[in-house]
Amino acid sequence: MAERFELAKDYTISRVINGCWQLSEGHSLQTKLDMQDVMKAFHMLAERGFTTFDCADIYTGTEELLGEFLTELKEGSTLSPHDIQIHTKYVPDINLLSEVDYNYTEKIIDRSLKRQKRDVLDLVQFHWWDYNVPGYVETAGDLLKLKEKGKIRNIAVTNFDTKHLREIVDAGIPVVSCQNQYSVFDRRPERELIDYCKSKGISLLCYGTLSGGLLAEKWIGQTSIQPETRSHVKYFQVIEDTLGWDGYQELLVLLQRIAKKHSVKVSQIATKYILSGQGVGASIIGVRNSRHVESNTKIFAFELDRTDIEEIKQFLDNYPIVDGEPFELERTVDSKYRDIMKMNLNEK
Ligand SMILES: NC(=O)c1ccc[n+]([C@@H]2O[C@H](COP(=O)([O-])OP(=O)(O)OC[C@H]3O[C@@H](n4cnc5c(N)ncnc54)[C@H](OP(=O)(O)O)[C@@H]3O)[C@@H](O)[C@H]2O)c1
Repeated sequence: MAERFELAKDYTISRVINGCWQLSEGHSLQTKLDMQDVMKAFHMLAERGFTTFDCADIYTGTEELLGEFLTELKEGSTLSPHDIQIHTKYVPDINLLSEVDYNYTEKIIDRSLKRQKRDVLDLVQFHWWDYNVPGYVETAGDLLKLKEKGKIRNIAVTNFDTKHLREIVDAGIPVVSCQNQYSVFDRRPERELIDYCKSKGISLLCYGTLSGGLLAEKWIGQTSIQPETRSHVKYFQVIEDTLGWDGYQELLVLLQRIAKKHSVKVSQIATKYILSGQGVGASIIGVRNSRHVESNTKIFAFELDRTDIEEIKQFLDNYPIVDGEPFELERTVDSKYRDIMKMNLNEK
């Protein structure tokens, strides 16, 4: 069974969260997903203790899909909708940031409630595309009002850097978690964010753990990739700026050696390494089918030893870390990291 973690008082989650970006429109560049198989994967995961799901108001169709999943649970399962935690996001469009006010925020939260068929949202992760547009502290305050009104159980942020998260925390917003990219390729949170979060009791929920599936045996010995998903595009950029192709190949070989020692797979070593990090509450792993469910249960069937962790860390220390704070390049005009972002999906 998946390990659990108390993210906030009386609120526990699975330490691997099922990510749903992969299920939104346009994420798969080549194949069409089999949604019956996806629903089967949701049931299999929940039965194995992976009861927490990550979606967003901007991941088209995913909140509704999770709402359907809850209905299926009601109609006949050992689990009930109350056994499931749904983490959504509030991501106002960049074009609308200057117009965001309490009424707008409440409208989007009500839409998420309706889509998910819930009376209260378990966790809302707030995102703000442009710090130069004022309003993020006030909007976080509006989320607190909606929490007090009973529409939101827990408030969180996503893709915030240390400075701006601090502003929100200093304004008295009870942030329980911070969802950011953190993986063997992208170690920007190690600069400052992790220590800050630890000092405030805020847990890191990490994406990019498997880098869209690039952390798997099947890539060993390959000389290039043909991106099949938007995740591949995104994480390939990170590899280019950190390990490079040769370093990536060497890392895969190292992870495979450690994986063989524990009779598991490269993906499980990559996940366990991030889960062993200080301040990390959970890793988010994207779901596209039922193929990886059994394999992912192995994450909790072994432990990395100190020497494994040190060996991976020492290897990574030979390579550069992506510049800046978490999500800084993604916010920088003309950066390749920003160029692949879609910043106006909420009103679509
Ligand atoms: N806040 C944000 O801005 C943000 C950004 C990105 C992601 N996220 C969240 O994080 C989630 C994860 O997204 P991600 O892009 O970081 O992808 P990821 O979790 O690193 O990779 C997911 C892919 O890994 C492969 N995989 C899964 N289990 C595996 C296993 N046991 N062995 C080998 N491969 C395995 C699958 O690919 P195949 O099906 O192709 O094999 C799957 O589609 C998203 O769904 C979303 O919820 C949030």
